[in-house]
Amino acid sequence: MKIVKLSLSMLLALSLVACGGDEKKEEKKESKVSIGSQTEQRETQSEESSDAEEGVVKLTIEGSDQMKFNKKKLKVKAGSEVELTLKHTGQMSKQAMGHNFVLLNQGVDMMAFGEKAAGAADNGYIPEDAGDDVIAHTEMIGGGESSTVTFTAPEDKGEYDFICSFPGHVALMKGKFIVE
Ligand code: CO
Repeated sequence: MKIVKLSLSMLLALSLVACGGDEKKEEKKESKVSIGSQTEQRETQSEESSDAEEGVVKLTIEGSDQMKFNKKKLKVKAGSEVELTLKHTGQMSKQAMGHNFVLLNQGVDMMAFGEKAAGAADNGYIPEDAGDDVIAHTEMIGGGESSTVTFTAPEDKGEYDFICSFPGHVALMKGKFIVE
């Protein structure tokens, strides 16, 4: 049963990749909006960095009905307190186009994690035995909803992967959480 579920989710991911022709345009548009106040603008990827020296670092990231995050990179200082809000800007249901934000520890294979998570529907697509593999995650949400998670950024500088763990979404919904 588990194997069947995994195969279906992979097929779903492949088919969505295959027909995702007009996503680039939308991403560019969203990027401009989201980083309009920063001096540096990038067309193909947006980046959020916070230079708050004290207090809580607030980050926002959006997920869409096109199965995309609007940011490919998030940047924080080591050990900072982070309040991250995920917004689902689409209209599709949690069952059809659910999104969450899952920050994975270094050394975790995100594709393997995604496959394992696909079998954890009863636990919001977070494996119950995830343990240290997951640093932090939001709730799984549908269109129009948002979810906030607060956590302490790792002390170890470097790059960490973040993904959406809805079945099949890790293929497109992933990015780097950079700790510096
Ligand atoms: Co998703």
